[in-house]
Amino acid sequence: MNIKIAPSMLSADFANLERDLKEVEKNGADYLHVDIMDGHFVPNITMGPDQVAQLRKAVNIPFDVHLMITEPLKYIDRFADAGADIITVHVESDGDIQACLDAIVKKGVRPGLVVSPDTPLAVIEPYLDQLRMILIMCVYPGFGGQSYIPASTEKIRACRKMIGNRNIDLQVDGGINFNTLKEVVEAGANVIVSGSCLFKGDMKENIGQFRKIIQR
Ligand code: DX5
Ligand code: ZN
Repeated sequence: MNIKIAPSMLSADFANLERDLKEVEKNGADYLHVDIMDGHFVPNITMGPDQVAQLRKAVNIPFDVHLMITEPLKYIDRFADAGADIITVHVESDGDIQACLDAIVKKGVRPGLVVSPDTPLAVIEPYLDQLRMILIMCVYPGFGGQSYIPASTEKIRACRKMIGNRNIDLQVDGGINFNTLKEVVEAGANVIVSGSCLFKGDMKENIGQFRKIIQR
């Protein structure tokens, strides 16, 4: 299976974002994972669509925008216009999930749904045929650098089974590092988000190490 690597910008140096994003771009990452937090859905704040639009101009790599915001529908058009290539919305967020998916598709962006650790997979089942990506959170959303929740592995396995032969990427986010990577890939994940592990030290070496582990 073709495994994609998506470094999470949350762990970049925000005083040197262009430099760090260029590192992501030139060292063989597949996507840039962009965490959007509103201080309400999660107890942390990152950035809005205007900042994303500026960053999108600085690098040429697909932007995978993970919306951790209470009212995603209000902002989907603006993140799409900012240059998002993929937008994922939490099923736990307020409002009409179907309307969010419709809004994303209407903008020509790839739609996805996210499930937090306590949310059962059954919640996304009705939307399966419309999705291009499912994101399974392996930590409680809000902060980088947390430890992988072991129960996530079974959920990833169940999700891969649920996807069947549909063309849906299975993304994992939170606590993925040199020790946990193998387990999530074996369980069926094919898009790997990693922040604190990939941004610590040398990005090129770290991505190389990820690829080695994946191939083993
Ligand atoms: C957490 C974010 C993640 C975060 C992952 O809410 O969604 O994308 O950056 O960070 P690590 O890889 O450090 O767990
Ligand atoms: Zn994320």
